[in-house]
Amino acid sequence: MDMFVVRGGRPLRGRVKVGGAKNAALPIMAGALMANGPVVLRDVPNLVDVSTLASLLTTLGMSVQRHADGSLHMHVTDEEPIVADYELVRKMRASICVLGPLLAKRGRACVSLPGGCNIGDRPIDLHLKGLQALGANIFVDRGYVIAEARKLRGARIFLGGSFGSTVTGTCNVLAAATLAQGTTRIESAACEPEVVDFGNFLISMGAQIEGLGTPFLRIEGVEQLRGVDYQIIPDRIEAVTLMIASVMTGGDVTVENLDLSHLTAILEKMQDLGIPMETITEGAQPGRCHVRVQSPTSLKSAELSALPYPGIPTDVQAQFMSMLAVADGISVVTDKVFPDRFMHVPELVRLGAKIHREGQSAIINGVSTLRGACVMASDLRASAALVLAAMAADGETVVRRIYHLDRGYDHLEARLNSLGASIQRVEDTPANVPESLRLCDIFSPVRTGQTLVLPSGKQVRIDAPQPTEALIEAGLTSVSNTPSQTEAAN
Ligand code: EPU
Repeated sequence: MDMFVVRGGRPLRGRVKVGGAKNAALPIMAGALMANGPVVLRDVPNLVDVSTLASLLTTLGMSVQRHADGSLHMHVTDEEPIVADYELVRKMRASICVLGPLLAKRGRACVSLPGGCNIGDRPIDLHLKGLQALGANIFVDRGYVIAEARKLRGARIFLGGSFGSTVTGTCNVLAAATLAQGTTRIESAACEPEVVDFGNFLISMGAQIEGLGTPFLRIEGVEQLRGVDYQIIPDRIEAVTLMIASVMTGGDVTVENLDLSHLTAILEKMQDLGIPMETITEGAQPGRCHVRVQSPTSLKSAELSALPYPGIPTDVQAQFMSMLAVADGISVVTDKVFPDRFMHVPELVRLGAKIHREGQSAIINGVSTLRGACVMASDLRASAALVLAAMAADGETVVRRIYHLDRGYDHLEARLNSLGASIQRVEDTPANVPESLRLCDIFSPVRTGQTLVLPSGKQVRIDAPQPTEALIEAGLTSVSNTPSQTEAAN
């Protein structure tokens, strides 16, 4: 397993381009199961989640090839397989996105239930309710959802739940309705840009959908869908993560390839915090722009609630919390989509943040500096929040379990390093933890025979046990059990 060693305190400067959106790419890849011809997807991010889904689609009779230009070339070669196996599904919840397309195209689907998740309960009752309304017979057996329907029929479906609508649930029901007989009306559909992108992909294959981006969708079923060449939208969550990186490091970064219409609530909140931002259209693709983000002299505190789109997304809640940890004054962050998505709080506290969780909110008392420590990532966005805090902190930080980060960010450390960060990917072994974080070594009483290194570089051999705290106060920087070179020479 790998971990990051981050050396904080380096302002980021330069330009960085945002890649294709993970949460649009995943349902779109699954939707390609319904095409009657080859599908080419452009700007597909190079992520572990994308590879996991590609492996799953391969087991479902699809050929998937990544080309050097970032495109995925997909073609169904066998329509017999219908089982999405637990071993692949448990690695990534978004595997559930194959349920609607398989059912609609092959008449049957057997998809493993994804199991537990670190960001809270993630039921799929709304997915199942929607597919049942379209006439599917659904039951759960030995951990698998088994869905069957000789022919799906259009229906009126309400997809709202206690926490709003469902993103992947809307994609599943929308996909199935596309090939159903007659008209389907979905009410309380998710309005996230990723759902709109999925809908636009279906339309480009020949689907008839109205109302994308609103809670009311009207779908007229069609007989079949054709192959297409389709470009994925830019990743708004990655964009915000990079913008916050600029702010937290006292940087000056131009984040390229944004669709500002996806970022309204976020940009307004960043303006409220006093963050200087400049929109640049020159050199950007039509409909896209670049945003230069600088660090304010004083970052204001804020109240922020993560809500379904067009609100601030839950997927940037952790990154915002990291930033508010160093703002002036008290902030309150609430997550109304995943009320338990706060595993990053105790880890940010290890870095010196003052955060107190209160139900579905966290109260943050901004501090002037964070201090490097060893921390553990619990999920994808929590990992990003920890990397941000580590870059802003004094000293060195170790971020463990970065496999979470690799699921959803395309070589994040390389891109941050290209802007001036110092993030090293190393194997997670005790020897790779920097000396400055080996407090067990530093704070253990210094024993006879150990050698101390003072800031001057002078090495002193101890001939009686000493309390190390006192020596640290005197300027001790490291302790070793081996004789110093000076002594060895003596
Ligand atoms: N919910 C239900 N019943 C359902 C489905 C959802 O009660 O049948 C609840 C959930 O428990 C949650 C809320 O509804 O409280 C929203 O869940 P949703 O179904 O919208 O989430 P999702 O589709 O499983 C997608 C993203 C998540 C993102 C959420 C919310 C993908 C692949 N995943 O998940 O992304 O946080 O929408 O916007 O699109 C991430 O990228 O880090 C990530 C977790």
